[in-house]
Amino acid sequence: MTYAYLLAGENLELAEAELKGFLSSQEIEEDPKREERLALTKKEPSQIKRLALTHEVSKVIERSKKLETEYEPENSFAVRAEDLTGEKNTKEVEKNLGSEIKTKKNSVDLENPEEVIKVYILEDEYVIGRQILEIDRSLFNQRKNQNREFSSPVSLDPVLARVLVNLSEVSTGEKLLDPFCGTGGILLEAGLCSIDVYGLDIQVSMVEGTKKNLEDYGILNHDIREGSINQVEDIFDLEFDAVVTDVPYGKASKKDGKTLEKFLESAPKLTEGKIIFMSDKENLDGMSPEFDIYVHKNLTRYIYILQ
Ligand SMILES: C[S@@+](CC[C@H](N)C(=O)[O-])C[C@H]1O[C@@H](n2cnc3c(N)ncnc32)[C@H](O)[C@@H]1O
Repeated sequence: MTYAYLLAGENLELAEAELKGFLSSQEIEEDPKREERLALTKKEPSQIKRLALTHEVSKVIERSKKLETEYEPENSFAVRAEDLTGEKNTKEVEKNLGSEIKTKKNSVDLENPEEVIKVYILEDEYVIGRQILEIDRSLFNQRKNQNREFSSPVSLDPVLARVLVNLSEVSTGEKLLDPFCGTGGILLEAGLCSIDVYGLDIQVSMVEGTKKNLEDYGILNHDIREGSINQVEDIFDLEFDAVVTDVPYGKASKKDGKTLEKFLESAPKLTEGKIIFMSDKENLDGMSPEFDIYVHKNLTRYIYILQ
């Protein structure tokens, strides 16, 4: 069986890396094959809703140069096409495949179909599949900073926070530490994926705020402590499966030039797994970021992956 993931177009490289991290978290050691915005894998995934930069997943029925399939839906269906070339007419494809698979037993229902048949239009091929899940990305917006009871301008966007969690390859029940947890943006996304969350922040207001935000979303199992990165190894005498964070930036990072240095020194002692962090700096101690994310004209964020 082949599964087709339709990746978000804004930052394709990051979407693909998120998918790889997610697959690894599901113990699927498979490199997806990418064609335009489509990434194809063989193994059946679970927890697909963890993905933030994937729009939907379909089970592939047919790949063909012609728009045809022997598949006949048994109930009501709708055909929905995605043009991945930027030059084909999706409406025509939907109409043509719709009439091809229409039988006496089934019916077309564009509003509320029992099955959605997807056609991904590539340069010289059609990939036809049954949609198994459309990811409701508006749920991420509902968790934005302004919609949480405890908020601060430092809070990380939920989509980005979830991407960092997926890049870390951490699975359900494993331990993730954010040593600069702020309002808990990363821990909230990790907690929603049933990952065990640990946090540290130098400000007591952030520690209390993170606990509140986690609990408001039903994440009651957490360990959030007040303290400095300088003491992180004593505060948490634990081995983590990953360390994921958004390092202090702007004024906070300038106040104490050693914060980042200390983080880079401690993180490898806290985990043998992935160390993922976000920064506003394009170059850190000679390290180059893996990905950059344009936020607005004065802010680009950079994702670093240490190990
Ligand atoms: C960029 S913010 C993190 C934002 C967070 N990702 C969120 O979604 O809210 C960085 C955080 O690091 C904390 N911080 C600054 N210096 C620190 C230090 N030396 N040790 C621990 N935390 C520190 C700040 O209080 C701030 O909350």
